[in-house]
Amino acid sequence: MKRIFSGVQPTNNIHIGNYLGAIKNWVELQKDYECIFCVVDLHAITVYQKPETLRQNILDIAKTYIALGVDPRHTIIFVQSDVKEHAELAWILNSIAKIGEMERMTQFKDKAKQHKENINMGLFDYPVLMASDILLYDTEAVPVGEDQKQHLELTRDLAMRFNKLYGDTFTVPKPIIKKEGARILGLDDPDKKMSKSSPSAMNYVSLLDAPEIAAKKIMKAVTDSGSEVKSGKDKPALTNLLTIYSLMTGRSVKEIEIEYAGKGYGDFKKGLAEIVSDFLADFQRKFNATNDNEIRELLSVNANKARVLAEKKMDQVKRKIGLK
Ligand code: TYM
Repeated sequence: MKRIFSGVQPTNNIHIGNYLGAIKNWVELQKDYECIFCVVDLHAITVYQKPETLRQNILDIAKTYIALGVDPRHTIIFVQSDVKEHAELAWILNSIAKIGEMERMTQFKDKAKQHKENINMGLFDYPVLMASDILLYDTEAVPVGEDQKQHLELTRDLAMRFNKLYGDTFTVPKPIIKKEGARILGLDDPDKKMSKSSPSAMNYVSLLDAPEIAAKKIMKAVTDSGSEVKSGKDKPALTNLLTIYSLMTGRSVKEIEIEYAGKGYGDFKKGLAEIVSDFLADFQRKFNATNDNEIRELLSVNANKARVLAEKKMDQVKRKIGLK
């Protein structure tokens, strides 16, 4: 069975964009792939995190995966820092990653602008650690949102470069980026993607927002000029809201446009607010029903499973380079 690998950072405010762009697809792919889903905590610390908050966020992301439908009986859900080979391989890949290609990473450029006071080496090296996550497990495909496409291209380049230098070692992974939902836009600013680190909480609907708060955010979402509920290039805000509606309900955008023909933005947003708040209420019921201690136990067992695979790959890598 082919293997997929993906991950989410345990930072605050995991939002419906993360769900619709990534985790929803993981759940669908579980049937056809062997899956490894990681809580990428070493990535999260490239921006300062309060230790006690980080500790809880790590658990919460694992709980989120399960509450959204990732099945822990068939999937390895584990925490990145529990398997030290991720950091070890990153160091090795650093030796073949070029400064020039790293400087082209748009996420680094954006984050460097956002965190001017703390442009650290980890932030710069972030994509190499991501490549290590993926390459350690002979990953065939990586389901992610569009913002990770460039990092996936770098991962492929590093894998091919290593294979050329040292002989066939890494599987060259493909991205799985769905056409719909790969770039959910900010509710308050449909020019940019919905983002955990947005300064305004009106930008996103967090999966842990109280359903009534989420409904308010949808009602206040920016809309385009005109009044027709229609998607299209000239209507980025409506297209975004229609995409969310469509992905949450499984109905096509066309169908939804027909349902709201002749009605205004207000009615449409009311409908969407109800769908999103029902989804959150259901998610939060499941999230709150999971027990922290059981999750800790699960993560520990799964880290052992991941470690077996990672150690084997590192052994192979070290032999190829001449470290063993
Ligand atoms: P992170 O934690 O920023 O985001 C997690 C996933 O959510 C997707 N995503 C979005 N999709 C649609 N619309 C949006 N507005 C939106 N915002 C985020 C992201 O594309 C991602 O799939 N570098 C990764 C984490 C990572 C990783 C990996 C992923 C580390 N190692 C290995 C895959 C494989 C990140 O920062 O994701």
